[in-house]
Amino acid sequence: MKTEQPPAPAAARPTRALSGIQPTGRFHWGNYFGAIRQYIDLQPGGGHAAADEAYYFIADLHALTTVRDPARLRGLVHDAAVDLVALGLDPEKAVLFVQSDVPEVTELTWLLMTVCPMGLLERCHAYKDKKTRGLPADAGLFTYPVLMSADILAYDATVVPVGEDQVQHIEVCRDLAGTFNHLYGDVFTLPKPRLVEGGAKVPGTDGQKMSKSYENTIDVFEEPAAQKKKIMRITTDSRPMEEPKDPEGDHLFALHSLMATADERQAMADLYRRGGFGYGEVKKALVEVAARFFAEARARRQAIEADPGRIEAILAAGATRARAKAREVLDRARAACGLARTMPKGGGR
Ligand code: ADP
Ligand code: TRP
Repeated sequence: MKTEQPPAPAAARPTRALSGIQPTGRFHWGNYFGAIRQYIDLQPGGGHAAADEAYYFIADLHALTTVRDPARLRGLVHDAAVDLVALGLDPEKAVLFVQSDVPEVTELTWLLMTVCPMGLLERCHAYKDKKTRGLPADAGLFTYPVLMSADILAYDATVVPVGEDQVQHIEVCRDLAGTFNHLYGDVFTLPKPRLVEGGAKVPGTDGQKMSKSYENTIDVFEEPAAQKKKIMRITTDSRPMEEPKDPEGDHLFALHSLMATADERQAMADLYRRGGFGYGEVKKALVEVAARFFAEARARRQAIEADPGRIEAILAAGATRARAKAREVLDRARAACGLARTMPKGGGR
């Protein structure tokens, strides 16, 4: 009698994490806790959710739609690379590169543009917001989600760690990849967004979401004296000191919680509930926990800056690895849609 063989377990596809961050300013606490920390957890050998491979890049092509000063852009790209490595992005574990060092991505952008309905882009918020505010928008901003789609598809990314504001763009990416695959065969891997655990918004010095656009940021590597000044100026309410207060929903407490130990957090929550304290005390505690939390990264940053050429070598090595992968995917796409006259060798995924 024939025995039923149990189905062989499907070979697990390797997970490949990918994300990009725009060099439009120095990184602030919102960027670190909302994005960068997750990139680090996802790099191979990182936290519980580590991916098999990770690609992270500095999105200078995207930044061109807002930063129009070449020297500033060059400086911001350099600083972003140094900051990411100082914060724990390990170039031995993840591929770290600059977006514009991979020209294959811009060619892929064109291929995707040809399958992208105008209406899809008209609905995207970056463009829509500018338009409704009556501000001029260029074609770069309008087609920004297509470039972002190419960024993702060029590396066969399976998981894209992003903030909530970027989920719509991943949907566009999936849409374009699906249409292209439908027309030309199984070319692209459809990625999934991965939201930061908890999805919490880091509050800024005025209690709104921390963002460059609101000028309420505290930068990760700001000079300690300047950082302290900003922290001491964080807005608070004017309730009397003796009144007990609810720590939940208080932005000063939220910031402290991000960097405090569990015991410190508990002690601070108890203090709020007891009352009889001044917000000045909380701010001083925040200065201290923040200094401690980023002390190692600051030291690492200094060491990297003291070694000229190191960051450029990291970015050059990253670009070589990224280009090899992007070339393979681009060749696959070119062949599928009829651009390549001979099928490329080894085009399989
Ligand atoms: P900004 O709002 O300062 O211009 P970006 O839009 O460049 O910041 O943000 C880059 C990344 O950092 C995004 O993934 C975004 O979701 C995340 N991020 C930015 N600000 C915050 C915040 N206040 N809380 C949580 N995540 C944030
Ligand atoms: N648009 C993203 C942002 O503003 C940056 C970005 C560009 C990106 N390309 C990407 C993020 C690809 C994830 C994947 O934050």
